[in-house]
Amino acid sequence: MSQPALPAGFRLLQLAEVASTNDVLRARALAGEPAGLVVTAEVQTAGRGRYGRSWSSPAGNLYASVLLRPDRRPAEIAQLSLVAGIALLEALAERAPAGCKPRLKWPNDLLIDGAKVAGVLLESDAGPGERGFVIIGTGVNITSAPADTPYPATCLIEQGFAPLAPADLLAGYLQRLAGWLDRWRIQGFAEIRRAWRRHGLGLGGAVRLRLEGEEVSGRFVDLSESGALLLELAGGGRREISAGEVFHIGA
Ligand code: BTN
Repeated sequence: MSQPALPAGFRLLQLAEVASTNDVLRARALAGEPAGLVVTAEVQTAGRGRYGRSWSSPAGNLYASVLLRPDRRPAEIAQLSLVAGIALLEALAERAPAGCKPRLKWPNDLLIDGAKVAGVLLESDAGPGERGFVIIGTGVNITSAPADTPYPATCLIEQGFAPLAPADLLAGYLQRLAGWLDRWRIQGFAEIRRAWRRHGLGLGGAVRLRLEGEEVSGRFVDLSESGALLLELAGGGRREISAGEVFHIGA
């Protein structure tokens, strides 16, 4: 991987093969690594996705994890997954061919033409005092996508993007991420919410949500002021959902 230009405050550790870049970074974080380290790998042998799924990680795609140590409450920390999703969307949108519009599926999956092209896995540890940390793990299918996923998957090349080195995409993503993190720290969530609503999929539409231990359906009314999914239940009433898997119906 070539050495990309990084925004201020970030340092890069490029590795050839690891089990999971999130795991490498977690070990470093527990050993006291300061915020700003970014770990990448050309290949992951045990890449992880959300909901305990594996993340297929052959050479050619981007696998990167970023270490942060924000001094915020857990409810606000969860907003970082939307922050990362927007940064990634912008990095992809600026390279997208004409007519191709990446969209965000709540909270942070990136879809092109209804198929998943990238995902974000946020892992945090409250830790004592300043020892707490957040890892933002990002995978982007650049040259290949798995065929055996429970959802449609695609890659950038299949979507007509020009050939792209993982390091170049990483540089664009980190530039955007640095900007959005600054806004989040200084101004809070309001502008991030506005950006998410511009690029989010299925606002106002029918959804089914798989939550821990139950499924609910209704209408995706809006993104809440804190980043939760506001659901108008099919049987009446509203719920604010902070974690779960969304299935858009008829989108
Ligand atoms: C998802 O399920 O959508 C999240 C996928 C996150 C994959 C990335 S690849 C880099 C980092 N290391 C991992 O093991 N997972 C994340």
